[in-house]
Amino acid sequence: MTVPLTTRVLPADAGAVTEAARVLAAGGLVAFPTETVYGLGADATAGRAVARIYEAKGRPAFNPLIATVIDRPAAQKLAQFNADAARLADAFWPGPLTLVLPKTADCAVAALATAGLDSIAVRVPDHAVARDILAAFGRPVVAPSANRSGHVSPTKAAHVQADLGGRIDLIIDGGATRVGVESTIIACLGDPVLLRPGGLPRAAIERALGRKLADAPAAPDDTAPLAPGMLAAHYAPRTPLRLDAARVEPGEALLAFGATLPAGAERAKSVLNLSARGDLIEAAANLFSHLRALDTAGAGAIAVMPIPHEGLGEAINDRLARAATRR
Ligand code: TXA
Ligand code: MG
Repeated sequence: MTVPLTTRVLPADAGAVTEAARVLAAGGLVAFPTETVYGLGADATAGRAVARIYEAKGRPAFNPLIATVIDRPAAQKLAQFNADAARLADAFWPGPLTLVLPKTADCAVAALATAGLDSIAVRVPDHAVARDILAAFGRPVVAPSANRSGHVSPTKAAHVQADLGGRIDLIIDGGATRVGVESTIIACLGDPVLLRPGGLPRAAIERALGRKLADAPAAPDDTAPLAPGMLAAHYAPRTPLRLDAARVEPGEALLAFGATLPAGAERAKSVLNLSARGDLIEAAANLFSHLRALDTAGAGAIAVMPIPHEGLGEAINDRLARAATRR
């Protein structure tokens, strides 16, 4: 981020909740306590607000985010519950459990927040401040842990200030969080799978399900567990991508960036611009929806103009490189 922001810190009271909802509605970033750890919230339905989360955290890649909602009916607008998911939600929501489920057809969450996947992580937190903010805002809030990428999750407002001060709009200080570790993540896309151990113990989940939980498969080199976001295959278009394209070849579609289009753009099957004014936040917000749209253009390949490597460009280029190699 080029211009540092003034990060306000407010004690968690009714006025702070109103202000948090106002900042979220304006596309801003608000850190707030949940029962597990502090989350960095943005309007889940606004791609640009979601893009700012990645920028503030300094994430080198677009990991999918958890959509935080007020209750089960709100979750069911975003995600499809099978019998296992329904049982777990009944038993443990509100609480430190996140479910990874198939998205609904009309899921309002921005494509960037789910990294273009067809699944979505949803959670109903059990913390009065988080719940008051969700109720006042009235829409889903994406909220990764409120730390810089690679740092540990914050359990106090001061941790958030140390990591993200000057990078976000508002911190709501609700004291130390009760659970102190992140939510347990269970995928219910087929048989339930434990993606991340967390605040809700495995034994409690297995009791509610009436059977054992499968673990996420080990990483290929067997040294580390697979990161949760890696389990679900990364989104990649079916049409091959050609990166750093300086011209558009016959039969290609064009994923553009900036005001000056390359030679041959006029004969492209279809042209979508990530950001005509060269704004990387806007580009990140458009990335997955534009890729999906160009994938249906009937082109032989998608030519992608060079994207600068600074700021969010690093994550955009990371995702484009994966999409280009995975076929
Ligand atoms: O306790 C928590 O869950 C906290 C509080 C703030 O709610 N949030 C949190 O978010 O820990 P985050 O972004 O730090 O971790 C979310 C994890 C990531 O590892 C991500 O890869 C995984 O959830 N995840 C999100 N959506 C996913 C999906 N569709 N498939 C697989 N993994 C997913
Ligand atoms: Mg985290």
